[in-house]
Amino acid sequence: MSRTSIVAIIAVASLLALGTATATTKSIRLPADGVQLKSSSLPGFNTAVHNCVACHSAEYMLYQPPTAARPYWDSMVKRMKVVFKAPIDDADMPAIVDYLVKTYGNEQPK
Ligand code: HEC
Repeated sequence: MSRTSIVAIIAVASLLALGTATATTKSIRLPADGVQLKSSSLPGFNTAVHNCVACHSAEYMLYQPPTAARPYWDSMVKRMKVVFKAPIDDADMPAIVDYLVKTYGNEQPK
């Protein structure tokens, strides 16, 4: 065996040893996602569950002003689709907006 191949074997062996040493199992713990969309009998509730909490918590809705009117929620839903590529069907939008404005916006029951 030549000197270079021995060097090569040692190099490969030490790389393998390094590899196994760093291949320990790691785990991460995500914070609990406690905030769910407020339950409602409005048809848009289920649609919102399927379209609005895949990327972020429903907590985001709570941070919106309760005085926000229908056009605000309408542009919010459109923004999610246009800017963030949320796969929301245009046909589902009116029901989602209706649910949002009546649950988090200025059409909430007093
Ligand atoms: C494809 C992923 C995705 C989906 C699906 C999605 N969002 Fe978002 N949303 C985002 C991102 C990204 C942000 C802004 C970045 C951040 O702060 O995390 C955001 C932010 C928000 C905010 C905070 C205010 C703001 O303008 O940043 C609200 C409210 C919101 N989304 C509502 C909704 C609603 C309602 C739906 C369903 C119609 C929805 N989101 C669906 C990705 C998504």
